Amino acid sequence: MKIAVIGTGYVGLVSGTCFAEMGNDVVCVDNNQEKLTKLRNAEVPIYEPGLDLLFYRNIAKNRLHFTDDLKNAVVDSEIILLCLPTPQGEDGSADLKYVFGIAEDIAKILNDNPGHEFKIIANKSTVPVGTCAAITEILNKNNVKDFEVVSNPEFLREGYAVDDFMKPDRIVIGASSEFAMTKMKSIYYPFVLKGSLVIEMNPESSEVTKYAANSYLAMRITFMNELANFCEVVGANVDLVRKGMGSDTRIGKRFLYAGIGYGGSCFPKDVNALIKTSKEYGSEMRLLTMVDQVNKDQKLVLVKKLLKHFNNNIEGLKFAVWGLAFKPNTDDMREAPSVVIIEELLKLGAKVSAYDPEAMKNAKFYLQDRVEYAQDQYKAVEGANALLVLTEWNEFNNPDLEQVKELLVKPIIFDGRNVFNRRKTKELGFTHYSIGKTPIIQ
Ligand SMILES: NC(=O)c1ccc[n+]([C@@H]2O[C@H](COP(=O)([O-])OP(=O)(O)OC[C@H]3O[C@@H](n4cnc5c(N)ncnc54)[C@H](O)[C@@H]3O)[C@@H](O)[C@H]2O)c1
Repeated sequence: MKIAVIGTGYVGLVSGTCFAEMGNDVVCVDNNQEKLTKLRNAEVPIYEPGLDLLFYRNIAKNRLHFTDDLKNAVVDSEIILLCLPTPQGEDGSADLKYVFGIAEDIAKILNDNPGHEFKIIANKSTVPVGTCAAITEILNKNNVKDFEVVSNPEFLREGYAVDDFMKPDRIVIGASSEFAMTKMKSIYYPFVLKGSLVIEMNPESSEVTKYAANSYLAMRITFMNELANFCEVVGANVDLVRKGMGSDTRIGKRFLYAGIGYGGSCFPKDVNALIKTSKEYGSEMRLLTMVDQVNKDQKLVLVKKLLKHFNNNIEGLKFAVWGLAFKPNTDDMREAPSVVIIEELLKLGAKVSAYDPEAMKNAKFYLQDRVEYAQDQYKAVEGANALLVLTEWNEFNNPDLEQVKELLVKPIIFDGRNVFNRRKTKELGFTHYSIGKTPIIQ
């Protein structure tokens, strides 16, 4: 099958590469020339474990191509996947300018090629309910015939994107006709063979499903974060509570880890977009307004602990930060709690020395040269007044804490991800603040 992928970011590049791996002929379109140059030079522009192998293999097999030529990509393909950004607009709603802009371009291209074969425009971007209908309207206005717009939301997780795409829990397809549904199912057939479930529905249900999934997960995390704050006050340990509640099969174990708030390119904007859309339709989802608020507050809990420890004066002090990415196994810095925390520390007159295995290049876009970027995790700690753990990369789980202790001015840890073994840090004489646990002060 000939597939065009419009937008070659985290979703588009992974989708395009994985569909090429399944034997399809894929052309990925992007208008970012810097990114295109890298892609054409067989350079993976993002960090995503396991992507490079598939990427090189499918370029070598001539099944994966990169271009800025939207016209040829659209005309030559049966299925056109939209993987475009839908960032948060100023009023909290999803900004659909990229999606609608491309819809207009596709409409004009198809209008100029009236004899074109039937086109399926499948939207993988996360968009508010009604967007498939709005794209259809744009094509109708341009007198385009022989097309259908379907919803096919993407559920991959950055850091596990290739695995998630190759072995999805489910594939959601929202289509209006049997023909489009069958065609879409055919490109996912290899995944169904491996046991993934295809769930068929109308486009509106499919569009809502994506927001429902992300908002629910954001709510789960937020519940645990608020519970963690409560645990600290009453002398409970949130990790033990998590085990106790998560082993209930009605609840399940995943997405119950307390921390410093959710971030990333999806949860914050998707929660806000659903709040906005629900208000627009007069059916406000009030719970989500609190989720967003509690999450914003949670991003600063570590700074509050730190201020309390240092008697509200951190001017001139230096803090080591381990982890900048919004979560491990990605270089994505969008809405990362680390940015909020570091900005606050800098505002209060502190200095920051940071280390992240993959995200330091992207972090510079947000933090410029206002922080020191260390070569490794131990260099970051040298001469610091305390260590803050902001992303739970594996390599931070079991570090040489004796070395950390020697490098710090005083052995103080603010563990925003509960990665360290508290028995060990206690034995070594650390003062250790965690999330949802009584601090160890010594
Ligand atoms: N990142 C994730 O983990 C994830 C997961 C599921 C769904 N989503 C959703 O998928 C969509 C894409 O997300 P992403 O993280 O891949 O975004 P991204 O910003 O990484 O990538 C988007 C790409 O689109 C390109 N682009 C923008 N305008 C274009 C145009 N006119 N023509 C061609 N290319 C254009 C950009 O240059 C960029 O490469 C969003 O709606 C997002 O919410 C993201």
